[in-house]
Amino acid sequence: MERLVSNWYNHRALPESYICPPETRPGKLSIPSGDTIPVVNLGEALTNRSNTILNVLRASQEFGFFQVVNHGVSEKVLNDTMNVVEEFFKMPMEEKASLYSEDPNKVCRLYTSNINYGTEKYHFWRDILKHHCHPLDDCIKLWPQKPTRYRDVIRTFSVEGKKLGLTILELLTEGLGLESGYFKKDLSEAMLLVANHYPPCPDPSLTLGLPKHCDPNLITILLQGHTFGLQVFKDGQWIGVQPLPNALVVNIGHQLRIVSNNKLKSAEHRAVTNSKVARTTVGLFISSSEDSIIEPAKSLTNAVQPPLYRAFRYKEFLSYYFSMMGDTELALQPFKLPFNQSVIS
Ligand code: OGA
Ligand code: NI
Repeated sequence: MERLVSNWYNHRALPESYICPPETRPGKLSIPSGDTIPVVNLGEALTNRSNTILNVLRASQEFGFFQVVNHGVSEKVLNDTMNVVEEFFKMPMEEKASLYSEDPNKVCRLYTSNINYGTEKYHFWRDILKHHCHPLDDCIKLWPQKPTRYRDVIRTFSVEGKKLGLTILELLTEGLGLESGYFKKDLSEAMLLVANHYPPCPDPSLTLGLPKHCDPNLITILLQGHTFGLQVFKDGQWIGVQPLPNALVVNIGHQLRIVSNNKLKSAEHRAVTNSKVARTTVGLFISSSEDSIIEPAKSLTNAVQPPLYRAFRYKEFLSYYFSMMGDTELALQPFKLPFNQSVIS
């Protein structure tokens, strides 16, 4: 519990154990948070569906990242969600102590830094609340009881966020030419909520809130609030994701990259800190269940475009992914098929 950054950040300079090696440090250069990352108006799907599909598809192919507006999740739900999660992190430590755990298998837990504080070489400027959202009626009993509105508000956010995720997946399904409903059942059955809290940092040039990574799951929907901090790595450069009012950030995860046989991109991203204000983000990570088989969609592969990955269980991938944290391509390596050996049945 003492390890949580929010517990001590006010009283100390940046401890040495939080300083990243020079090659991964964000440095002092300010990253432009421009309009490079596409913004898709999902409201347009009602009047011009084919254009919306094209926009979502292009963004997923080129960037693996986009923002959505007019997405159907109301401003009230977004504000309530951000407020209740911020309130959670602001509560006195005693109120949160029972949720703190360093056991990664705990289904609802408060922890800090990254996957394994005990074994990582250096730490990250972040506290995390993480819990499952499926099956909702079972999981909800394990979610924080305080703030008292937490369960109600997050239930609504998770249900609406999941619906939005499925809407986007269906647009991608059509865009890729897969059969309708391809992602609807097993592949998108599970969901995790990860709330990240990055307190103000004494030296944002030396540390990161979250190291460079790709998400392992199918698709992620992120409420990033008003504060800049998320960056996407594209063509050898970091690009800032500009906070936009009432927008949600969407990114393609490894699962979707694999199912699409590399037609969609799982982009590397990271979160930097700032010295002025705390930043809180709330992500919904949609994935298959851990027992599901993941493989390139049959209809996307043929003799000319052979499958680039073998079939595997998602849990097999997850355990390898977490052991390889920080190296995105290496995490995919054991699941890749050598190009010339891929045989189509
Ligand atoms: C994540 C993530 C970005 C952010 O939780 O996987 O990429 O800005 N978060 O908090
Ligand atoms: Ni991420």
